[in-house]
Amino acid sequence: MCSGNGSNFENIVHSCPEHDVVLMIYNKENCGAKERAIRLGIPHCHLKSTEESEITRRFTEANVDLIVLAGWMRVLSSEFINSFPDKIINIHPSLLPKYKGLNVIERAMESGEVVTGCTVHYVNEELDSGDIIDQSTVQIYPDDTIELLTQRVHQAEYRLLPSVINQVLDKF
Ligand code: GRF
Repeated sequence: MCSGNGSNFENIVHSCPEHDVVLMIYNKENCGAKERAIRLGIPHCHLKSTEESEITRRFTEANVDLIVLAGWMRVLSSEFINSFPDKIINIHPSLLPKYKGLNVIERAMESGEVVTGCTVHYVNEELDSGDIIDQSTVQIYPDDTIELLTQRVHQAEYRLLPSVINQVLDKF
């Protein structure tokens, strides 16, 4: 599930070839994720965040083993979460429980942290709060810029998320 650029989504497609990405749902029309899905030939569907029952129906019909929030910028209802117990994970660009919510790479840097990173966690009803599955650290250097740090956090995400997906799905 994506709302924006979709670089993590594309990375999953390339980095988890043994698992099928059967459906990408996006809630922002004409987002990068949609363009990537077209280019990659991945089935995709635009649904608003308010259309959760239809999202549930589509994923149930597709018989998914795992739902990955890869830049899905909305909190999901307990009804949706309970429809897929232990099957929804999220990637977040901070070392949770530090820095939940938005603009977290900037916030970590502006707070004078020397280390930040990214986290993959199970999704619950609270923002960026479910059980942590794995994390990856990224150093913040004294002469860093937001752009450089953001690039390095994204590179860490591209390694961490496929590794967690493989780890979770290999249990099946
Ligand atoms: C990532 O930084 C992810 O951690 C956060 O949203 C961003 C999505 O980037 N939840 P992209 O759309 O995968 O490029």
